Amino acid sequence: MKIYKAKDYEHLSQIAANILAAQVTLKPDSVLGLSTGQTPIGTYKKLVEKYKSGDLCFNKVVGINLDEYYGLGADNPQSYAYFMNNNLFNHVNINTENVHIPNGLSQDIFAECTRYDEVIAKNPIDIQLLGIGSNGHIGFNEPDAELKLNTHYITLAKATIDTNKRYFKNEYEVPKMAYTMGIKQIMHAKKILLLASGESKAEILRKAFKGSLTTNVPASLLQMHRNLIIVGDEAALKGVF
Ligand code: PGA
Repeated sequence: MKIYKAKDYEHLSQIAANILAAQVTLKPDSVLGLSTGQTPIGTYKKLVEKYKSGDLCFNKVVGINLDEYYGLGADNPQSYAYFMNNNLFNHVNINTENVHIPNGLSQDIFAECTRYDEVIAKNPIDIQLLGIGSNGHIGFNEPDAELKLNTHYITLAKATIDTNKRYFKNEYEVPKMAYTMGIKQIMHAKKILLLASGESKAEILRKAFKGSLTTNVPASLLQMHRNLIIVGDEAALKGVF
């Protein structure tokens, strides 16, 4: 496990973007496992800057997103497809055919999970970007007695709905179901880059990386990954590392 302590969110975003840019520079056809949420926004902004200044090219990059809300399509501003277009894909030269996100509007849940499993099997992930939920979820793998290995359809935890309701008019509008990559697919990424910012993440980081492995804190399983990089700012890492 490698830990990078950033002084603040801006610095965290710079370090994370540098790591992803190095990956793409060394392997232009890298498969990037991508994530959404508040934390990676700064990183995507820095990647766009690197692209615009000519330092980075995405034309061979493949992007595979972790998760998507059930029932939301790319034209819905709350969907993760919309988030990715808005924060990254619309601003760089990534080939739209190389962009993969579970289809929240699919009529057949099981077929959609199988389709996504095939996408992941065909495109082994070089580096997976992750955030950590306040309950320790990664992607939408929520705390439970058992975790699913592959792409699946999940009921969101109350804690996740509570955290994410700030993006919606009210909590009733937050989708209660989502698609997510499974834990095996995340663990199979060659590298994992986990970002955490702010003091609200310190307690869950302590549970995940200083406690025992438990499916009740899905991020704790990352302790077993051979190439885990954690980039956190001082507030998030305080008392943890
Ligand atoms: P956040 O989400 O970046 O908005 O804190 C992280 C997550 O839920 O995985």
